[in-house]
Amino acid sequence: MTFTRRQFVLTTGASVLTGATAPAWARLIRAGQPLRILFLGGTGFLGPHMVRDAVARGHTVTLFNRGKTNPQLFPGLEKLTGDRYGDLSALENREWDVVIDTFTYVPDTVARTAELLKDHVGQYLVISTVSVYPDYATPGMDEDAPLAEMPDDVAAGIKTHGQVGQYYGPMKARVERKVQEIMPGRTCVVRPGLIVGPGDPSDRFTYWPVRVSRGGEVLCPNSPDDYTQSIDVRDLASFIITCAEKKHMTTFNADSPAATRTMGLLLETCRAVSRSDATLTWVPAAFLAEHGVGAWQHMTCWIAPEGPYAGFGQVSTKRAMAAGLVCRPLEDTVRDTLAWVDEKPRPEDDDAPDPASGTVPVPPDRRDRIVRAERAGLPPHKEAEVLKAWHEHKG
Ligand SMILES: NC(=O)c1ccc[n+]([C@@H]2O[C@H](COP(=O)([O-])OP(=O)(O)OC[C@H]3O[C@@H](n4cnc5c(N)ncnc54)[C@H](OP(=O)(O)O)[C@@H]3O)[C@@H](O)[C@H]2O)c1
Repeated sequence: MTFTRRQFVLTTGASVLTGATAPAWARLIRAGQPLRILFLGGTGFLGPHMVRDAVARGHTVTLFNRGKTNPQLFPGLEKLTGDRYGDLSALENREWDVVIDTFTYVPDTVARTAELLKDHVGQYLVISTVSVYPDYATPGMDEDAPLAEMPDDVAAGIKTHGQVGQYYGPMKARVERKVQEIMPGRTCVVRPGLIVGPGDPSDRFTYWPVRVSRGGEVLCPNSPDDYTQSIDVRDLASFIITCAEKKHMTTFNADSPAATRTMGLLLETCRAVSRSDATLTWVPAAFLAEHGVGAWQHMTCWIAPEGPYAGFGQVSTKRAMAAGLVCRPLEDTVRDTLAWVDEKPRPEDDDAPDPASGTVPVPPDRRDRIVRAERAGLPPHKEAEVLKAWHEHKG
């Protein structure tokens, strides 16, 4: 269903939209296709998937970034050059139906673009994160759960995304609030969980398909019944473009459905898809901790479901599903992630040829990097050490 101007007036109570007092942006909340979409960013991991989805749906796309990350991408699209911390002049005197912002780490930085664009775009779509919640203690928690806070003076001292560190969640919460203040009733916030699938530079999800496909005895965290949650980057991209098309002006958790994916399901799916002979050895959380194996960083996609994480993997996505989020089967994500691991690097990947020198970083083998757990996961020697200790412990 398209969100018409009349529905927008009714939904937001924005009676000022009628008559001669209608603000300039009111005509940008318009029904019909195609949309003119401005991406702030668009060339990292999530961005290219959204851009491709938007182009495939017939929308007109403009990219704004510094031209540093994967500049070879999208030669046929309009590209504006500038810097979120500096020159925004390329955005002046232009008009778009929607702006989709991924570079959303520092409230003041995002406020600059929101202020500049507020009369020239209909909708501001903020890519946030489920890390805005201070904990996951409550199974089934939804978008109305309290948000993480931080001291004002600490927030004021953070000027760049590189300084965000442990305040990632509360800073994102502040970004959300800032845009909502600047463009009330015209902001859509999407809070993804762990974004996974082809092109994921973090290797967090990818560790498991690669590890299980290698076979042998696999060290697995705690219990096969512990929940995990993640969203395929392609499903997320598609949902975000749907939010633009349907003019959703609300906040969504965007993740796989709550309490549907267990670690057991994930690892068994990896085994089935890769036709592996791996055996899965589940080792209690306390034993892992005693032996220096960390949740999330080593045992990726997993956190022990206790205390503040008692509801981990159980964040509600009902609102997003009602609004058009569709999650593909886990098998597809695992299969396509494995295919991506073994394919030659593509231009949009961070291990693709360096555009300046034209050289491919050595080794270009992603599988090798992931097996060694350079970015996430457990290195083979550590896994063998802990498995040996576990078997000795069990006698
Ligand atoms: N990965 C996860 O599991 C996860 C989970 C939850 C939420 N998220 C959120 O999802 C989003 C993912 O973003 P992404 O990195 O994949 O997005 P992206 O839009 O694909 O890439 C980031 C873009 O920002 C641009 N950029 C960087 N510095 C800039 C600057 N100073 N001025 C202008 N543009 C700049 C980069 O281009 P240039 O370098 O050329 O400027 C690039 O195009 C983030 O908001 C993240 O917090 C991620």
